[in-house]
Amino acid sequence: MSPFAGYSRVPPDEIRKVGVVGLGTMGAGIAQVSVQAGFETVGREVSAELGERGRKTIERYLARGVDKGRMSSDERDAALARLTLTTELDDLADCDLVIEAVLEELPLKRAVFGTLDEVTRPDAVLATNTSALSVTEIAEATGRPDRVVGMHFFNPAPVLPLVEIVRARESSDAAVDAAYDWAARAGKQPVRCNDTPGFIVNRILIPLLNDCVRVLDEADVAPEEMDKALTNGLGWPLGPCALLDLIGIDVHVHASDALHGKLGEPRMAPPERLVAMQSEGKLGRKSGAGFYSY
Ligand SMILES: NC(=O)c1ccc[n+]([C@@H]2O[C@H](COP(=O)([O-])OP(=O)(O)OC[C@H]3O[C@@H](n4cnc5c(N)ncnc54)[C@H](O)[C@@H]3O)[C@@H](O)[C@H]2O)c1
Repeated sequence: MSPFAGYSRVPPDEIRKVGVVGLGTMGAGIAQVSVQAGFETVGREVSAELGERGRKTIERYLARGVDKGRMSSDERDAALARLTLTTELDDLADCDLVIEAVLEELPLKRAVFGTLDEVTRPDAVLATNTSALSVTEIAEATGRPDRVVGMHFFNPAPVLPLVEIVRARESSDAAVDAAYDWAARAGKQPVRCNDTPGFIVNRILIPLLNDCVRVLDEADVAPEEMDKALTNGLGWPLGPCALLDLIGIDVHVHASDALHGKLGEPRMAPPERLVAMQSEGKLGRKSGAGFYSY
């Protein structure tokens, strides 16, 4: 059955060339998804050095794919050849879809969208990978909010299939469908939702992980046993403490604060234990210590 069954929709706009703004953790992963799926892709970074770093990240992941037999070295070379780097937003002028993945700061994202609005074709779809900001407020920085949507990938973007396709207040059906269709063609599992705080997954996961952390103290549970409880009792592939270490304690605290600020539910506020871990520099895997040592 067509994924669009039940929706009244126009055929999705054809997307051939993709721009990715920011080749950090998420942007490099999104650019990798795009080139692997066969799309010409322009990656924009603030400096040539950071651009090269993004390319190296993609090369490393693709090399791993070759080592594991998931792709041939010819396929890797072809994918890498589809990526061009630039430091100029002007070079995204002929992209049909631009996905923004810069720092999670509203003024910065609005500035990027203001420039993208000037340099890209009026019918290009502009997407933000924001986790916690309002897509509608980002879209309002452009003169074409009907062509702006959210495309929320999950980390690591080349590995996790889900992409939340976020409909902002003014997003048109055509823009939402074009983003959905592109994500599906890129091998992802897109789902649609409105522009509400946390979208789908984070709206549910953030307070749930906070509950798990509060139960550690309330019920005097060791992190290992909490993880044992949820992997064995609920079939989670990874326990909540291991997951928090993977996400990064600082990233989770920031996301909790953002959701709490918008929705005000006490469960959404970061638990004291996590705030203390953050100030001690125990950020999880990336710092070598969190709930576990690495
Ligand atoms: N990391 C995650 O798990 C995750 C998951 C989903 C969505 N996101 C969202 O993706 C976006 C990027 O997050 P990330 O984790 O890749 O961050 P990151 O720190 O790895 O990358 C940030 C990017 O922003 C760019 N940047 C910094 N200052 C800039 C400026 N002044 N102008 C233009 N570009 C600038 C950097 O060069 C870099 O490319 C954020 O909106 C974040 O909320 C992150």
